[in-house]
Amino acid sequence: EHPVQVSGSATATVGCRDDQTLLDAFLRNGVYLPNSCNQGTCGTCKVRLTAGDVAAPPVSETVLGADDQARGYVLACQTRPCSPTQIEVDAPEVAAPQHVLRDLQGRVGEIRSVADDTVAVHVELDEPLDFSAGQYMELRIPHCGEMRQYSMANPPASSTRLEFHIRRVPSGAATDRWIFADLTAGDEVALRGPWGDFTYAECTSPLLLLAGGTGLAPLKSIALQALADNPDREIHLYHGVRHESDLYDVEFWTELARAHPGVSYIRCLSRSDGGDRHGYVGDAVAEDFASLRGFTAYLCGPPAMVDAGVKVCKRRRMSARNIHRERFTAAV
Ligand code: FES
Repeated sequence: EHPVQVSGSATATVGCRDDQTLLDAFLRNGVYLPNSCNQGTCGTCKVRLTAGDVAAPPVSETVLGADDQARGYVLACQTRPCSPTQIEVDAPEVAAPQHVLRDLQGRVGEIRSVADDTVAVHVELDEPLDFSAGQYMELRIPHCGEMRQYSMANPPASSTRLEFHIRRVPSGAATDRWIFADLTAGDEVALRGPWGDFTYAECTSPLLLLAGGTGLAPLKSIALQALADNPDREIHLYHGVRHESDLYDVEFWTELARAHPGVSYIRCLSRSDGGDRHGYVGDAVAEDFASLRGFTAYLCGPPAMVDAGVKVCKRRRMSARNIHRERFTAAV
């Protein structure tokens, strides 16, 4: 184990094994570092190496620019120490989730087919998990040991019963060869988390939630948390999918909108008619709101959907610091 010291927006020293990433070591010790994908693809976890030797796979310049790499920046989620190490974090202050990263065991509860190629899987944990609405867990695929990432759809209050929304990925090691093949109620599951800083921070502004596909999961957690804080909260949820058969949780959201007058639920179908709107969620929002000044947005889904939605929010005058996004790409 090597001592790794961080300075900057956090100051601490933690022990990190040489087979452990810097990010994993800090989060396990309750020291927050900015992080999102934990896969070396988003660049959120960049830190500057100021002393020590480290090992890391090559990083694409689209994730960490050549200038940054020349100045000693590395990705904390990909970098392992080979000696005592010092790093600096200069991330702007964010509402940091302070939940300790842990390995957990759980047991599969209900598995429900909810839409074309989409299941909702419940996992009962042996002990409660502290997390913020919007965060995700990694699930270990039993036959190969790789991890896959799924956001919690349940609010933090139901901390021993996690709900995940999982869409089949063609030839996916986790989906085709495990979850959709032979996962059964009662099976043991190994999990690691919570991860990510796509998190709900208590606020009073109206919420705009834009989901693409199973990007709905963390937004369900966020909406339930926001309504637990204030049942009259103004929340506009737009769920975008291709076809009606890809929609899910329709009854849940319809019921939520009926029970809470501040909640609106709009289904957008991009490739067929039906739902409430034809087209993309970003276009529907642009049609519905002349101004989004004073709103807070959470967007989760495929990168193109998230990027288009962010543009609409900015064009409609939402403050950039109130726009929270999580792009996900399906891992095979
Ligand atoms: Fe490290 Fe995304 S690149 S968290």
